[in-house]
Amino acid sequence: MSKERVLKISILRYDPHVKGDKPRMETFEVTEAPGMTLYIALNDIRKHIDSSLKFDFVCRAGICGSCSMLINGKPALACSTLTAKLGEEITLAPLPTFELIGDLSIYTGNWMRGLNERLSTWIHNEEKIDTDTLEEKMEPELAEEIYELDRCIECGCCVAGCGTMQMNDNFLGAVGLNKIARYQLDPRDKRSDEDYYELVGDEDGVFGCMTLLGCEDVCPKNLPLQSKIAYLRRQMVKIGK
Ligand code: SF4
Ligand code: F3S
Ligand code: FES
Repeated sequence: MSKERVLKISILRYDPHVKGDKPRMETFEVTEAPGMTLYIALNDIRKHIDSSLKFDFVCRAGICGSCSMLINGKPALACSTLTAKLGEEITLAPLPTFELIGDLSIYTGNWMRGLNERLSTWIHNEEKIDTDTLEEKMEPELAEEIYELDRCIECGCCVAGCGTMQMNDNFLGAVGLNKIARYQLDPRDKRSDEDYYELVGDEDGVFGCMTLLGCEDVCPKNLPLQSKIAYLRRQMVKIGK
């Protein structure tokens, strides 16, 4: 039988709301259990060692996007990361770019809401809806393609993993470009090519992306971000001509 491992989990601790608090690394030892995820390890620390440790979670199943953090420097979800896949020494830090609540807890909601408002991420259709008539049929392949892009959980990993994002605060990031690719594909959305160009046809949008590919590497939902950004760029080049 293999020996139980004792994990050394070093966490960047800092609460900007506590006067005089200073960023520091604190290391906690946790005995690994079979099937342990980082979320379970963090819960163990909070329950048995330090109840003041801040981190977020809701679903514990990779669906809500709230437990994203830097795991050994790479953006990922704590609830979907098995400790068995990591070495005995693990480093955790909050995702950059987003507002820090404290320790590993960040506020992505504000940023994501701003993005959704900026891009008006809903179906734009002025036609009067007749509730007695069925919606126009959509080809299953197209519905599937849209559904695939709708799987984004707004975890922010692609934002934290993008070098362009660190240089340009206004850059929409892969999450924003993915949303626009999704609505542009949807025949129910009646926005014109020019409307889309206005939204993403500049350096803060699709032409700012330097194809660094970090977004696709870290997306926990494995969204085809790269091909969709390339598709959107081709569309915008055509419209802008
Ligand atoms: Fe997270 Fe992927 Fe959505 Fe980016 S595109 S917010 S990494 S799920
Ligand atoms: Fe950033 Fe992804 Fe483009 S990492 S630069 S959005 S390819
Ligand atoms: Fe919901 Fe991790 S707790 S994605």
